[in-house]
Amino acid sequence: VSAPPRVSRSEWNEEYVAGRWEYLADDAEVIRYQAVCRWAHEQGMAPSVLDVGCGSGMLYRALGGTAFPGRYLGVDWSVSALARVPRGRGHAAICADAALRLPLAASFDVIVCTETLYYLPDPLAVVDGLRDLLNDGGELLISQFQPDRGRHPAWHAHIAWLDQRLGAMPALARHSTIADPSGRRTWTLYALRKEHVTHGDVQ
Ligand SMILES: C[S@@+](CC[C@H](N)C(=O)[O-])C[C@H]1O[C@@H](n2cnc3c(N)ncnc32)[C@H](O)[C@@H]1O
Repeated sequence: VSAPPRVSRSEWNEEYVAGRWEYLADDAEVIRYQAVCRWAHEQGMAPSVLDVGCGSGMLYRALGGTAFPGRYLGVDWSVSALARVPRGRGHAAICADAALRLPLAASFDVIVCTETLYYLPDPLAVVDGLRDLLNDGGELLISQFQPDRGRHPAWHAHIAWLDQRLGAMPALARHSTIADPSGRRTWTLYALRKEHVTHGDVQ
């Protein structure tokens, strides 16, 4: 099985301009954002949220958009996607490569990385770097689409590998399967903590 193709920054920009990602506003996808919002709100009604690979800000809209009372920072490397993120007070979006260490001094209650990790060249290093940006008790929420093995063998193999690695992490707090009502699209959602408590830490 060959590796999935790398998508360059300029290809992402072209795809957003061409409307390739507009389906992310479909009802089926909104179910996924709502599941992420429910877990994010376990950190309180006004959590600070970092959204890595935020695209056009669909998660920000699902959180309530400009009415969201928490702090929201979206990061994406596509300026075409970022141009579509609504702006508001306490909310911002910046252009950066998530494969590199993010130039952020802040830490966050919730870090979201949905449908983005499997595009990055060293996804497990990115997971470690993002966990370092969590507040104590905060969570890193990752979602991964489950592609059809027959139609997308390379993506299926890559995502299955990453699923296996995420599912085995000691930092894993919980995971869940999300399915759209038609059952045609499913995703796995993971919550990882900053620290993991080993048996020896428990007094
Ligand atoms: C499939 S979209 C997911 C958007 C959104 N997170 C969602 O769940 O609908 C993947 C996003 O990752 C961004 N992306 C891919 N590689 C990136 C990188 N190296 N640095 C920053 N963003 C990247 C793309 O520009 C795109 O907006």
